[in-house]
Amino acid sequence: MSKTAIVTGASRGLGLELARALAARDWALAIDARRPGPLEAARAELESATPVIAVAGDVRDSAHLTQLVDEAGRLGPISAVINNASLLGPSPQPPLGTYPLSALREVYEANVFAPLRLMQIALPRLEQGARIINVTSDAGVESYEGWGGYGSSKAALEQLTNVFAAEHPELRVYWVDPGDMRTQMQREAFPGEDISDRPPPSDSVPGFLTLLEADLPSGRYRASDLPATQEVRS
Ligand SMILES: NC(=O)c1ccc[n+]([C@@H]2O[C@H](COP(=O)([O-])OP(=O)(O)OC[C@H]3O[C@@H](n4cnc5c(N)ncnc54)[C@H](OP(=O)(O)O)[C@@H]3O)[C@@H](O)[C@H]2O)c1
Repeated sequence: MSKTAIVTGASRGLGLELARALAARDWALAIDARRPGPLEAARAELESATPVIAVAGDVRDSAHLTQLVDEAGRLGPISAVINNASLLGPSPQPPLGTYPLSALREVYEANVFAPLRLMQIALPRLEQGARIINVTSDAGVESYEGWGGYGSSKAALEQLTNVFAAEHPELRVYWVDPGDMRTQMQREAFPGEDISDRPPPSDSVPGFLTLLEADLPSGRYRASDLPATQEVRS
């Protein structure tokens, strides 16, 4: 029987590349994004390879997350949850000295509370040994000027995932820095700058596949440090 993964934010960027790779490996998929048009385009593409359910909505909406988990459960036991959707916040990013707290609250809703809520809702439906992957960032551990809002939200996500992993030894729980990627978020982070030197998000995918297909211990990983699945197995 094929495995089922929930991938949030799968209409473009890293989420779409992860969904494409999983579809090619026969994983059934439940995906989301806020805007229905791009999400439906992704669903239509992925559907040629695998069963896929797309639920348009905002990860900050708990009812949406419940619907996403319910729909995923209709595809089969849930083997993986990938919290990929994320909010950069204002662009350009303000320094912390003037960061509007209302905007910061939105960033934390999307990057901290939403991933935890999805883990909470999915927990009773996860099969033994299921993978949880929370996508974080080097901005969660480094002190880049201007990255205090987004970066601190990713730091909170990292530690929250760290503790969740300790509380759930029956699962494999990963927090993963995907590395710089040439995506819309990267364009928002560096408005007006040429970002063509950043690698495409597909370059980060093999590391995620290793976490999904091998049996590495729970913990923090950088996608670029992970060997391909075949190398882990041989
Ligand atoms: N790009 C980088 O260089 C980089 C570096 C380090 C870490 N990351 C992390 O990598 C992950 C993927 O980033 P990316 O660069 O691929 O981003 P992206 O290109 O901006 O794509 C984000 C995806 O998430 C969806 N999304 C955004 N907010 C959402 C919400 N509130 N509810 C539901 N869906 C939402 C977007 O669709 P809608 O807009 O239609 O909702 C889109 O499908 C993120 O966790 C990011 O923090 C990225």
